[in-house]
Amino acid sequence: MSHADDHQGTRRDFIYYATAGAGAVVTGAAVWPLVNQMNPSADVLALASIRVDIGAVDPGTQITVLWQGKPVFIRNRTAEDIAEARAVDVSDLPDQGANNNNLTDEAPATDENRSLDADGKWLVQMGVCTHLGCVPLGDEGDFGGWFCPCHGSHYDTAGRIRKGPAPRNLPVPVAAFVDETTIQLG
Ligand code: FES
Repeated sequence: MSHADDHQGTRRDFIYYATAGAGAVVTGAAVWPLVNQMNPSADVLALASIRVDIGAVDPGTQITVLWQGKPVFIRNRTAEDIAEARAVDVSDLPDQGANNNNLTDEAPATDENRSLDADGKWLVQMGVCTHLGCVPLGDEGDFGGWFCPCHGSHYDTAGRIRKGPAPRNLPVPVAAFVDETTIQLG
């Protein structure tokens, strides 16, 4: 596991490679087109699982990992993010299913059923809008989570759709902690 500190001003701007050739890691949706142009080879796209070092992801920031050809957001949430998400009544949500591949289809969209750890610090979700597939922007929108500018979908700090045309919460992929600073996707 290694990464080059290609900082360009702030941590949010850097780009590094997760595991040896397993996936490109970027911060911020703005650099997604660059990564997309890297045209990952078929063997990289086909990787069933990758491990991601999250040791450098500070509270209130996220990284975007390219996995199986799609962006995955890994966010270290602040106490405020978590409190906001946990204060929401599931019955108020447009999509009341957790949409979490680690749980059953019937699991409700509580924040606890969306986050990776019991404390709710870590949120791992596909960075693909459930409307027509754009990549939502972090720290944007009316609910402090993600905003998809394509047609105006607002997601909250748990990645749940709150307003706009997207029908589902952002999908949570199969993921697990391997150790304190490593998450395995798939
Ligand atoms: S693709 Fe996100 S709102 Fe349409």
